[in-house]
Amino acid sequence: MDIYKSRLNLIKDRMKEKNIDGMILFPSSNQYYVTGFRTFPGERLLLSIIPVKGEPFFIAPMLYESQVRKESWIKEIVLWTDENKPYEILKKTMEQRGLNIGRFAVDDNLFAVQLLSMISVLPKIEFLPMGDLLGSLRLSKSAEEIDKIRQAGKIVDEVVEEVRKNAKPGMTEIEVAAMMEFEMRKRGSEGPSFETIVGSGPNSALPHYNAGERRINSGEFIVLDFGAIYKGYCSDTTRTLCMGEPADKMREVYNVVKEAQEIGVRTVKPGIKAKDVDAAVRKHISDKGYGEYFIHRTGHGLGLEIHEEPYISGISESILKPGMVFSIEPGIYINGEFGVRIEDIVVVTEDGCERLNNYPRDLTSINV
Ligand code: GLY
Ligand code: MN
Ligand code: MN
Repeated sequence: MDIYKSRLNLIKDRMKEKNIDGMILFPSSNQYYVTGFRTFPGERLLLSIIPVKGEPFFIAPMLYESQVRKESWIKEIVLWTDENKPYEILKKTMEQRGLNIGRFAVDDNLFAVQLLSMISVLPKIEFLPMGDLLGSLRLSKSAEEIDKIRQAGKIVDEVVEEVRKNAKPGMTEIEVAAMMEFEMRKRGSEGPSFETIVGSGPNSALPHYNAGERRINSGEFIVLDFGAIYKGYCSDTTRTLCMGEPADKMREVYNVVKEAQEIGVRTVKPGIKAKDVDAAVRKHISDKGYGEYFIHRTGHGLGLEIHEEPYISGISESILKPGMVFSIEPGIYINGEFGVRIEDIVVVTEDGCERLNNYPRDLTSINV
């Protein structure tokens, strides 16, 4: 529990600096980070209120009581049942505690409909976006956090190998995705860190495709982009495998992406800006003549969330520091034909970075 006490002290200092009277958290990675309690977002009002002065407390539906008591260090819970009006209870509770006036930062993930109801019952509160109040604390990961991400990365490395061994021509993308999610769970994952992407043939050129009923043919690329959640922490890896043997153009494009990804990883070190990593990767792809086909940023931070600071984009002034964890994931997407992406997560070290995914990056064919 000491970790939570020290986080709370830092958070209270940050709120005082910014003249904020409290923080209102909703089921999210922020709520987990601050309170230790984790559940999925829903329509029922389930808030953790962290005032600068006074004790933090939950407002929670009765059905969560035992779970909150089990998981969180916060002991005070104002409970409501499905027969109550939760916003009336929120209003009364805030008034009783003298918290019905002031400036409160709200979780970015709070449903708009809930914020609108809160505004109507608490008209004297100025609600503010969370901004970097918690983001900057979560930016550099501790050794324990990095170990969890490393384990989440190892699960994914093993699952890519399962696909290489077991995928066959004629399988649908959904069948491959099901195999991946089953194999992740078998290895201790609490679930996928985002919707598993299995893009075959022309679908491999759609960076945020999902998985469909298309059957995978021999001679096609399959982009596998997926991650595991392990003890709350996310991994995120992409490997582009080929079902059988690729055509020459596919081989050429694959090698450009592989070189660009390697250049990105080698560029990372403390003290440089995130945008310098993006520039190095982008330059290589442009020099090879494929610049217009690299249509997204180079990477993003991850941890409790699959996408968080620091973003590795052409406009990111973030200065890299040891303990930051992010992806390096260049891609080339030739619409209607095929795409290639290779993604690893890295942690910044004192003199460079360490990859947290290690599945081979050489062009790998599935035997057909
Ligand atoms: N969620 C897809 C990616 O960032 O790699
Ligand atoms: Mn990914
Ligand atoms: Mn990613």
